[in-house]
Amino acid sequence: MNNLNLDWNNLGFDYRQTSKRYVSNYENNSWDEGNLTEDANVVINECAGVLQYAQTCFEGLKAYRRKDGKIVLFRPDLNAERLEESSKRLYMPVVPKEKFLEAVEQTVLANADFVPPYGSGATLYIRPYIFGSGSVIGVKPDCKFQFRVFTTPVGPYFKDGVKPLSLCVSDFDRAAPSGTGHVKAGLNYAMSLHALQVAHENGFDENMYLDPQTRSKVEETGGANFIFVTKDNKVVTPKSSTILPSITRRSLMYVAKEYLGLEVEEREVYLEELNDFVECALCGMAAVLSPVGKVTNQDEVIVFKNSSTEMGPVSKKLYDTLTKIQMGKIEAPQGWIKVLDEVVEKVS
Ligand code: PLP
Ligand code: COI
Repeated sequence: MNNLNLDWNNLGFDYRQTSKRYVSNYENNSWDEGNLTEDANVVINECAGVLQYAQTCFEGLKAYRRKDGKIVLFRPDLNAERLEESSKRLYMPVVPKEKFLEAVEQTVLANADFVPPYGSGATLYIRPYIFGSGSVIGVKPDCKFQFRVFTTPVGPYFKDGVKPLSLCVSDFDRAAPSGTGHVKAGLNYAMSLHALQVAHENGFDENMYLDPQTRSKVEETGGANFIFVTKDNKVVTPKSSTILPSITRRSLMYVAKEYLGLEVEEREVYLEELNDFVECALCGMAAVLSPVGKVTNQDEVIVFKNSSTEMGPVSKKLYDTLTKIQMGKIEAPQGWIKVLDEVVEKVS
């Protein structure tokens, strides 16, 4: 194991091709059995729904290596459920939960050598996705689909790791009021690329998007939800029907309440109350929990006192508790951790 000569401690969030990936095709109202393949390339028709009308959605989760060498997944059932919601919204066939879980497990086990060692800080990022793979020229759903799962070993999403991020309130909207902001549609990310580029050109790490209807409430960034902390240690997270329901955020809010005994609130968060918070962080599978130091809104700079130079103390406790749960150092709530059995590796 781990004879790949990768510099595990210094991986970035980059694509690195691993050994095998899972592929299953949908045609005539059913999914085929699916199998693992070494071929990392996808060959589809020039008129495929994904290419013409962006009919695609995806998920993101991670496999972790524990001290005893075991590989674990964190709440993969929730990724299966969210992919189901995304698929329905994009008029794509649903991958049954059992099939999703089996595909993820098979793919991780087939790439076990790429699951970074315990203590390296790196993980194996898992990317399940579905796309229209047939041919469609009028605007309508594709007739064929492909479900794939690949993996890639990754380090921190943000380059400077734990250094607090500097965000700006974006002039662009991420999601329409009754659009696709609540699902993980590829199109949400395509339309955020320009906004992200503008933010980077202006010296910011990421965008803070506002609610598209009133532009007065905080939504999320392009790839993570927000967590704020009040002066009296209450953990607050924005509630909105147009943000992605982050699995990390839902888990952290549970940890805050049930493990740390903190008061938690999921509610609308107004831009004008940002000054009341002492800590801010981004949460997501890729971002894990990344501190936010400041947010620039036009001429105003809002500084979060307790997370301006390093991760805030409440975020740190949340981070430590969540990662200990993932590593098996603290007992996890029932069903949160799936330990993979490397002996039953199936390769077709
Ligand atoms: N918000 C957006 C837009 C995302 O792309 C992600 C990443 O999946 C998240 C939030 C965080 O969600 P999760 O914690 O399930 O990874
Ligand atoms: C994730 O956290 O898994 C994401 O999908 C965010 C980003 C890499 C798209």
